[in-house]
Amino acid sequence: MWARINSTPSPDPDIARPAVAEWRMRASPPAVPELLYGTAWKEERTAALTELALRMGFRGIDTANQRRHYFEAGVGEGLAAAYRAGVVTRTELFLQTKFTYLDGQDHRLPYDPTADLATQVAQSMQSSLEHLGTDHVDSYVLHGPATGSAWTDDDVCVWAAMVKERDAGRARLLGVSNISRQQLEAMAAAGAEAPAFVQNRCFARFGWDREVRDFCAERGIVYQGFSLLTANRAVLGDPLVGRIAEREGATRAQVVFRFARAVGMLPLTGTSDADHMAQDLASRDLTLSADEVSELESLAG
Ligand SMILES: NC(=O)c1ccc[n+]([C@@H]2O[C@H](COP(=O)([O-])OP(=O)(O)OC[C@H]3O[C@@H](n4cnc5c(N)ncnc54)[C@H](OP(=O)(O)O)[C@@H]3O)[C@@H](O)[C@H]2O)c1
Repeated sequence: MWARINSTPSPDPDIARPAVAEWRMRASPPAVPELLYGTAWKEERTAALTELALRMGFRGIDTANQRRHYFEAGVGEGLAAAYRAGVVTRTELFLQTKFTYLDGQDHRLPYDPTADLATQVAQSMQSSLEHLGTDHVDSYVLHGPATGSAWTDDDVCVWAAMVKERDAGRARLLGVSNISRQQLEAMAAAGAEAPAFVQNRCFARFGWDREVRDFCAERGIVYQGFSLLTANRAVLGDPLVGRIAEREGATRAQVVFRFARAVGMLPLTGTSDADHMAQDLASRDLTLSADEVSELESLAG
């Protein structure tokens, strides 16, 4: 099984006794930002919203070479516009994209579907680098294992191909997404190199994905949580969240993002609204007590 790889606790100054210790984000440049801007489902608005997110202060961008849900070339256009305008440089950014199996794609494929999986990974990566106008991404994520319940031979092959891309300098770090604790255990038991990131939909009713988060925390894997608002509408309506929001002069959404960071998550937001972008970024300034973090963590499961 994997040992801890970046596990130095990094106490949150706003929280006296964190319920779960935060861990330091990987330090080598560019450091991993505290919040990622997600680019899914934006279609023809992708370029403008990516540029806007950078202008608003986001420095981490999440995308995928999966035209069905993402427009990666549009992300590249937004990046290029921001570079041209002097908003940001490539070296200040954390760019993350994904390899998606054929099953998760529509007809607009970034690889030859008849090629072997290792070739598909290489072709998808090459296409991502062209879309994003860069020679490397900071994180390359397997969008999801081949099945919902195992770590299959196909996953072994794809992960090895991703490691090869990383070793060739085209990715700095690797991750896996949409994965269960059982699959992570199977991945480790198969002798796979540990991911730096796990990116999952985070349901409060499952203890905010507690099993996977615990697995990650024990091994220094950074847990990236998405759908924090949309998967947890009941939490947003909870009186505790309302009380904290009122005290902090903040929105309920901001309380959820602040909570997510307090328990060591790297949250994603895909907002299309400039005010919400500013609020999501400003959520870092909210203060939660250790008791509030514990209560929020056990709110729904
Ligand atoms: N690995 C995967 O399979 C996977 C799957 C899904 C998503 N993702 C990634 O995660 C990113 C985020 O996706 P998501 O599922 O979390 O949903 P999302 O696209 O972030 O949607 C969040 C919803 O919350 C609203 N919102 C955001 N900030 C808000 C605020 N401060 N106040 C009020 N409402 C706010 C947004 O509305 P407004 O637009 O009006 O603000 C939107 O309706 C995606 O873009 C993608 O990069 C990955």
